[in-house]
Amino acid sequence: MFHKKTIRDINVKDQTVLVRTDYNVPMEDGKITDDNRIVESFETLKYLLEKGAKKIIVVSHMGRPDGKRVPELSLKPVAEVMARGLGIKVDFVDDVSGPEVEMAIEDLKKGEILLLENLRFWPGEEENSEDFAHEIVDSAHADMIVEDGFAVVHRTHASVDAITHLIPAVAGLLVEKEAVGLSKVMSSAEHPMLVIIGGAKVEDKQPLIEAFLPTADKIAVGGKIAADGYETKDAKIYVAEDFDTDGEGAKLDIGPVATAEIAKIISEAKTVIWNGALGKVEDPAFDTSSTVVAKLLGENPEIYSVILGGDTTGFVRYLQSQFPELEYSLVSTGGGAALEFLLGKELPGIENLEDK
Ligand code: 3PG
Repeated sequence: MFHKKTIRDINVKDQTVLVRTDYNVPMEDGKITDDNRIVESFETLKYLLEKGAKKIIVVSHMGRPDGKRVPELSLKPVAEVMARGLGIKVDFVDDVSGPEVEMAIEDLKKGEILLLENLRFWPGEEENSEDFAHEIVDSAHADMIVEDGFAVVHRTHASVDAITHLIPAVAGLLVEKEAVGLSKVMSSAEHPMLVIIGGAKVEDKQPLIEAFLPTADKIAVGGKIAADGYETKDAKIYVAEDFDTDGEGAKLDIGPVATAEIAKIISEAKTVIWNGALGKVEDPAFDTSSTVVAKLLGENPEIYSVILGGDTTGFVRYLQSQFPELEYSLVSTGGGAALEFLLGKELPGIENLEDK
């Protein structure tokens, strides 16, 4: 159950709506290499278009330009992906406030979208400046802000925090979907519940292991942290002990014994949360265990499966492109945000929204 108002709870018809998305997507040579976060924002944008919002203006960040214009981090290429995916005109202005933005908004017609430039080109965004938020709201003549960048809800930045104190703020459908999906594993998960932890850094994963220790029935640890000798005395935690290695003996994937053990635990589970690849998945020679786990979860609709973290979600989506039949309950767009959500931290991008 989500206790915050969403765009479904308010009237958006003939309103000027500012939408904060998270288009922090990977780029190579000016090309977007993974458009998932953009595509995930379409449900909210389509809803606003269908319900007859007067003007739809989208703001986002990309990368960490540190308050300066960095041409490689311009959101311009995102506008093209949006236009193609939504099948509508998406204009772009390389500013977030001021006369050019005002003119573009005046020209904007119903059924079109305007995307503004990377918010982090201005120091006010990360400084959570109320003046910066005011400038954006005033130039847009915005009636409301829709927070739909789930991956950024943990940041106390102007477009996530300060702005919500100036105009009514509600959740978009992606924020609602992720918050509901993640809440489910915290409060009403069906048991047995298995948490699979992989990845490289123990210090990143230990808080998650501790957070789930009271509620999970089993925690399975693989990836580099197991290869580096993760130690525990807790009987609930299974740590992989056999590994596939390269010619020089580097342990780059968990081995067949550990893979079979995790597969057995999955076959008994009703809820599985997976964060962190179990091997070096960027090398197909070492993606075996992660492929086995991804297929077991994706082929079994009886299991409530939540996939978290950039490397894991990227891998799962890559497999889905090859095996479209694979389905998961939630493939989160939020890296740090999803982890902070699960650790019960206060998230301004959700807390500040209007209550139902
Ligand atoms: C992310 O990719 O996790 C979000 O876009 C937040 O980015 P940040 O860690 O640079 O604030």
